[in-house]
Amino acid sequence: MLPLVAYTDKLSVAPGEALSVMVSSFGARQYRADLRRIIQGDTNPQGPGYKDQPVALDLGGSRAAVAKGFYPGSCVIIPGQGMLGDLRAFTLALAMRPSLIDGRESSLIALPGFARIGIDAAGCVFAEAFGTRLVISAAVALETWHIVSFSASAEGGLTLAVTCERDAASADIAPSLATATVQPSPCRADEVLIAATRGGDGRPAGFFDGKIDRPALFATDLSHEAVRRLLADFERLSRQRSLRAAWDFSQRMTTQVICDISPFHLDGRIHNAPARAMTGWQWKGQELDWKKRPDLYSAIHFHSTDVYDTGWEVDFTLTLPEDLPSGVYALRLVPDGVEEDAYYCVFALRPPRDRVTGNTVAFLFPTCSYLAYANHRLGMDVPGTEIGMGRVVEMDRHHMFLQTHPGIGLSVYEVHDDGSGVFHSSRLRPILDLQPKVKSFLGGFGSNIWQFNADTHVLGWLDAIGQGYDVITDEDLHAEGLRLLSRYNVVITGTHPEYHTRPMIEALQGFTDRGGRLMYLGGNGFYWVVSFNEDMPGIMECRRSEAGIRPWEPGHGQFHHAFTGEYGGLWRRNGRPPNHLCGVGMTSQGFDISEPYMLTPDAAEPRAAFIFEGLDCGAKIGDFGLAGGGAAGLEVDRADPAQGTPAHALVLASSVRHTDIYLMTPEDLLDPTPEWSGTQAEIIRADLTFFETEGGGAVFSTGSIAWAGSMAWNGYQNEIAAITTNVLRRFDDPRRFEMPRDRQS
Ligand SMILES: [Fe+2]
Repeated sequence: MLPLVAYTDKLSVAPGEALSVMVSSFGARQYRADLRRIIQGDTNPQGPGYKDQPVALDLGGSRAAVAKGFYPGSCVIIPGQGMLGDLRAFTLALAMRPSLIDGRESSLIALPGFARIGIDAAGCVFAEAFGTRLVISAAVALETWHIVSFSASAEGGLTLAVTCERDAASADIAPSLATATVQPSPCRADEVLIAATRGGDGRPAGFFDGKIDRPALFATDLSHEAVRRLLADFERLSRQRSLRAAWDFSQRMTTQVICDISPFHLDGRIHNAPARAMTGWQWKGQELDWKKRPDLYSAIHFHSTDVYDTGWEVDFTLTLPEDLPSGVYALRLVPDGVEEDAYYCVFALRPPRDRVTGNTVAFLFPTCSYLAYANHRLGMDVPGTEIGMGRVVEMDRHHMFLQTHPGIGLSVYEVHDDGSGVFHSSRLRPILDLQPKVKSFLGGFGSNIWQFNADTHVLGWLDAIGQGYDVITDEDLHAEGLRLLSRYNVVITGTHPEYHTRPMIEALQGFTDRGGRLMYLGGNGFYWVVSFNEDMPGIMECRRSEAGIRPWEPGHGQFHHAFTGEYGGLWRRNGRPPNHLCGVGMTSQGFDISEPYMLTPDAAEPRAAFIFEGLDCGAKIGDFGLAGGGAAGLEVDRADPAQGTPAHALVLASSVRHTDIYLMTPEDLLDPTPEWSGTQAEIIRADLTFFETEGGGAVFSTGSIAWAGSMAWNGYQNEIAAITTNVLRRFDDPRRFEMPRDRQS
């Protein structure tokens, strides 16, 4: 296994700035750290060879490796502020919709030391106060709203009541009841936890999986019927004189703040980023956009598997030297002197914020896509995965670590334990697959690398041709937009830049519109909408609405992001189709064998002459490579004027026949037919595409994740690398590109 894992507080840092490192031992006794520039991370013996460069920087000697832990699970924490004591009589109430009963006891609402409502291991609602526990004998129904109330009278009468709201049409649903009489004694609580309680170690524990809506606390005992009527009307609820607190989750949904609508304003905060802007008890399909009826989106969906900030104590902080060139770097942490066990904390050293470096080429380090895939586990249904891939998949020790430590947090390719989609991924935790040398169960047959390591084939190529470059990240682009890009002649993408925020897409479009040159060296790029949260740095949201190849859907009525209110899903459905930006857009994926491209008549166009200059290639290019054995593969994009490909774009080459592991994307599969697979469907292909922009810029797109794996073939000595170098040399030349007169769009 892995003796230690770690993360840094940022993925992008500028020279002169500080970077903190958080390390936990999983068996290591000590470690020492050094800094290395990452050049090429693929260890395939058929490839150009692993390459990094040590940076002479004293990071101190050996450090003790301290075991820390993972603490997943989301909840709400409300400080009591002195308002939770001496409640001689009280009622606790809420609406809840459980999504997982798995033999654990979970807490719906807890005032530790005072009272609690929860669901026991058998799936029955219980309540506790004054040392007495009441249990409803019937188990709750999954994915069904229930109203729960727990009241204590001044005389010591306890009543726990639950109505199952499955039949919303019936006005009077008889509650299930449990009652007891106790000797009341003075109690006080210092806080309220919703969807959890305090564990023995003082941390939140007993996490609930499911939705909770409008929890409330009254300073009197109310009947269940009265509670149910009050909960149905926030306005009446807020004016109820006995109300001590009631939390309306539909307020300030884009933040971490939880608002109390009582005059006491016992506000709190969410912990570990549960899903907000979720349909509540009163939602019946009246509105599909929470921004128009936020009151219908008053639920939070909590998961025992949610993670935001792993929160480890800082092991050490370093300051990046002012004269260190921009690049991809890693803090290498070597445990107990065993280099093979080293953990790499990868980050981008971006160019200085206040001055240009002189580099005219930028590599856009796709941190949003790294976050989306972060810690992607192989599905436990391995045979199904292998059928989908058309090959045997290998697990290495980082996969084993992910399987055995799910508390590290999930990727947005996974579902929570209750089967609901993972909307969030955070960088404030170790990301095991963002390391050199790590293999993936995706990736291309051959190197089996994906995302970061596949992108180092591009870094290795830049190194091999002696090209200076800056590294900028998605987060930098999101924050600084075109101001950041306007320093450069050329922006080069990674192999799979799939996830983008609107400011990122708009900056890239603005760049090419104004004369910038974009080299999209990947596939399935610019596909999904993601967003960041101004109140929660480092976490990203993705809601996979309506279409796209996707592992889950966000649930009815929940297609709009909580972080920004944006409609989630494909950029193609949001007015920014990838074809418009880069000429091609996602058409198919498969993870077995990659194919060559066949040149088309467009390759002979004088406009494209610079691309093939000095090359003596035949009609077929890229019939080799480290990612599936060809340059076109894994995920492939096609040119399509109907999706926004400019009319004057040249399709220089196309792959012609993929395996039947390659299937159509659902967004194109409007009326499914049996013929739409790789060997039969003509539109399953990668299109090598070039076009000029009116502003004098240009775009070159490979439409294939496997392209860079072919660039790296034979030590970067091959026609795929040479084509890419030709494009880069011309793109870096500030001479304008002219639009063709005869083929203007
Ligand atoms: Fe992807």
